[in-house]
Amino acid sequence: MDITEASGTPNGAGDSLKLGFEWEVVTTALPGIPDRPASHPLFYYTRGRILLDVHLTADEERILAGEEGHGRQKAMELLVALGDIYGAKRLIPIASAQVSGASFKTIGDAGLRFLEDFSHEAKVTVRSSLNPLGLDMDRWREMGVDDRFHDRQSRIVAAYASLGVEPLYTCTPYLSGNRPRRGQHLAWAESSATVFANSVLGAMTNREGGPSALAAGIIGKTAEYGLHLKENRRPRVRIDLEEIPPGMAPLAGYLVGRLAGNRIPHVTGLEIGPDGHKSFGAAMAASGAVSLYSYSGQSWKNDLSEIEETISLPVSELRECEHSLAGGDDWDLVALGCPHCSPAELKHMASRLKDRRPSGDCDVWFCTSRRAYMSCPREIAVLKRFGKVLCDTCMVVAPIETMYSKTASDSGKAMVYLPTLGKQKASFRTTDSLLEAISR
Ligand code: F3S
Repeated sequence: MDITEASGTPNGAGDSLKLGFEWEVVTTALPGIPDRPASHPLFYYTRGRILLDVHLTADEERILAGEEGHGRQKAMELLVALGDIYGAKRLIPIASAQVSGASFKTIGDAGLRFLEDFSHEAKVTVRSSLNPLGLDMDRWREMGVDDRFHDRQSRIVAAYASLGVEPLYTCTPYLSGNRPRRGQHLAWAESSATVFANSVLGAMTNREGGPSALAAGIIGKTAEYGLHLKENRRPRVRIDLEEIPPGMAPLAGYLVGRLAGNRIPHVTGLEIGPDGHKSFGAAMAASGAVSLYSYSGQSWKNDLSEIEETISLPVSELRECEHSLAGGDDWDLVALGCPHCSPAELKHMASRLKDRRPSGDCDVWFCTSRRAYMSCPREIAVLKRFGKVLCDTCMVVAPIETMYSKTASDSGKAMVYLPTLGKQKASFRTTDSLLEAISR
């Protein structure tokens, strides 16, 4: 690769590297987009041409030369650029892609223009599904979303449809039919889904940016670097949890993410089911740069030979964290379902609420996938007595800041993003205590 036009290096937060070709790597925070560590760069389309080191097959060379159209050429250029930066030797096939950058709130007019241009030039060639939007496609007026936002969001939906991306609109694609198997290579972008796929399902994916996941979906391949290589998946720090009190898995994830930083943790004492892992991993990926953890009791054996530090996490620290994230109790909104509620979580909440009445003290959102919503009609009917059951969106990527200012949630990930992206005073409570608060 010719990087003679480079300005800066991609090795530190805040740097940006103009690569002298059509993509620019940005490791700094951009307006409206949360901080990303250097290991999870964002890619923006610029101008120019590329020379490369990644070994390509004859077919891949043809794509790069533009013989299969400009859209596939641009997608290939992005994958090769990424591979070059991270020292990949080749591209490898992926089983699926999961694309973020779906809400108008997070990508804005510039992202919309990019998608509309790109949607005329390419289509995905492997199963690719989309992250949550900024609104519920059916109940956006009820949510309080305005016409302008709805118009822009609808154009984003149309662009992704034209690209062939499946309209799942969820951060839990693994509960909506896109469930990878152990050992499969993926190009997934949503941080909570990435960590679940790597850690619980045993698939192999880096935490992609939205454009690089889309490019991988178009080519059907990704560059082989990072978590696609077994040697990069070994834990470096062991974290011993003393105990996780009921409802505190999100806080355990939040703390483990902070302690691990950008190291892969091996966690002991993690006695939680699949939904516990869903919220634990999501919080960990939000508070740290963790896209993979291993844990005692996993169904496969991990190589623990490179652990360099052991940290104990007593229950008292979880309680301190709970206290520090408690905030006030005069909420405008109680938001449940980050990551999107599973059918089991919807059933749990409905069973706790079915014999109670709404307290009416604040608005309530239950966020879930359309697949989970459709699978539990009786439970959804119960929850609707207490608030809005929203599909396709969530409390972080919806324009919540135009509607509310104080939000309580049971999600560790939401505690990271509600104050930043959502401009909320955020309060953490366990699921069951929030169910108590919204009912009597
Ligand atoms: Fe999903 Fe939104 Fe939370 S995308 S993980 S519900 S921030």
